[in-house]
Amino acid sequence: MAFLIVIIAILVIALIVFVTWFAAMVAEGKCPLCALKKLAPTKLTIDIDNVPDYDNGAARTPLMGWSSWNTMRNHIDEDTIVEVARAMCSTGLADAGYKYINLDDCWQSSQRDADGKLQGDLETFPSGIKALCDRVNAMGLKLGIYASNGTLTCEDLPASLGTEELDARTFASWGIEYFKYDFCHNEAISGTTPAIEYVDISPIGQRAIIRLSPDNAKYTGKAKTVKIKDLPTGKAMGMLNHNAGTAYFDVNIPTSGKYALTVHFNKTMAFKRRYLQIVINGKVNEVFFPAGKGFTPDGRAQITVDMQSGANHIVLCNPVVTRADSSYIQYKRMGDALISASRDWAKFNHTEEKPITYSLCEWGTAKPWNWGAKVGNMWRTTHDIMANWTSITAIYKFNLRLYKHTRPGHVNDPDMLEVGNGKLTPEENKSHFTLWCMMAAPLVLGNDVRLLTEDTKKNKVLLSILTNEDMIDIDQDPLVAPAKKIGKEGSIDILARPLANGDVAICFFNKSKKKVTIEYDIDTLKDVKYLGVSRTNNAEIYDLWSAQTYHNDVIKANIQPHGVKAYRISF
Ligand code: GLA
Repeated sequence: MAFLIVIIAILVIALIVFVTWFAAMVAEGKCPLCALKKLAPTKLTIDIDNVPDYDNGAARTPLMGWSSWNTMRNHIDEDTIVEVARAMCSTGLADAGYKYINLDDCWQSSQRDADGKLQGDLETFPSGIKALCDRVNAMGLKLGIYASNGTLTCEDLPASLGTEELDARTFASWGIEYFKYDFCHNEAISGTTPAIEYVDISPIGQRAIIRLSPDNAKYTGKAKTVKIKDLPTGKAMGMLNHNAGTAYFDVNIPTSGKYALTVHFNKTMAFKRRYLQIVINGKVNEVFFPAGKGFTPDGRAQITVDMQSGANHIVLCNPVVTRADSSYIQYKRMGDALISASRDWAKFNHTEEKPITYSLCEWGTAKPWNWGAKVGNMWRTTHDIMANWTSITAIYKFNLRLYKHTRPGHVNDPDMLEVGNGKLTPEENKSHFTLWCMMAAPLVLGNDVRLLTEDTKKNKVLLSILTNEDMIDIDQDPLVAPAKKIGKEGSIDILARPLANGDVAICFFNKSKKKVTIEYDIDTLKDVKYLGVSRTNNAEIYDLWSAQTYHNDVIKANIQPHGVKAYRISF
């Protein structure tokens, strides 16, 4: 009985909390039911169908290079990076296609410079990142850099949320050609929007010439004029939260130029940061309202915007419903900043543009394979790789299923290679590399390549894996159509991908700890529509690891524990 009373009491309290919250939302001019949609955090609700693919002309095939993170972590400095660049050249890795030298976390000083710009650590990168970039460029290589889409990076150093344009311009001015954008210390954009009393438009240096108010607003969705008695005018544009609706205006502006927009909003119940977009002639301008005490009910938020002479279409809205919407907007903000930064830098200095390959690293949290191509060149699909077999195979399994999302200039990123790290056997190193090539993954070396300059048997094996031209050709195939799992035989996964010249790459991956044999009739390939194979008689079968050629209808092979066999088949 007592138990029942407790349950009923909890239900009653929950109901009271819900009703109070509901009533408070409505009183502030917000749509409570729209806010509930945020409970599906990984779902992108923003309509991106008409957003074109991210187009900076870079990384049409998956990026190849090296990154400092997997082996060096926070112990990097300019001498080490130069040594790495030299080793990339002397070992033949650069000639094999690995051109990017990517500084991961910990290149930066914890203090921005006097102009607010990011700067290299003053002790470990004393010559500055531009000088390092010039040295790396002189070796025929490119320099990449890292920041986080949060208030700090994963190693708690300065990051780029809120300073995207400045940081993108800084990177472009240094000559950076790759940028990895992490997700640590991220602060999601709020789906909540205060009720907007009015927006004044003033030419810079003058008083307001136009007022956007509830009286001249047109609305879509649930957005409408609401009464808020504490505000001076007693009314406001409400129900703009969580994409509930929009308020829009068509106004005539006398001359093109910069204008100040002063947004007068309802400050009450400002428990957290809130958000509004003011979209002018299609260009998004963002307004952030601080969390605050709200001693007075009516607040002001100001931004400067560009307006054109004549008709201007202005929309007030908040498209953020879920966490994924927030990530999309934040990652896109940086992507757009990078495109403008490299273009403007080249134009201003009359130099050739160095497009910045843009790499999203939000660990697959908001399913970036669904929207990454609209925002950047590559997107991490999982959490961090580690130098062990379990981690590598778990990432492989997850990433493989996402094959449909990879295409030229836009690829799934199953993270950097661990070849040569940890206790991976030579067979495991070879399989890891092969699987990444089959998946059309970026090939970013994560080992200390300086160690490869020593002439040892182990190094010869590692280099023969990493510089296998035939395998790299599969990864870099211009069709950029990654492998699909087309079958399974016991412990063997059968993967295949179509290639630009009509060939097919096929891989047999033995996941077990035992040696196995495979017999595979290549006629089966005709049944897989994805591969586009119409005839298989007289096919040429080229072993991508032994470089031997066969003319057989059946592939017969022994596969080592955790091993692979991979072939290029020409019809
Ligand atoms: C995250 C990323 C890693 C690496 C570190 C650096 O964990 O996923 O790839 O960049 O941060 O701090």
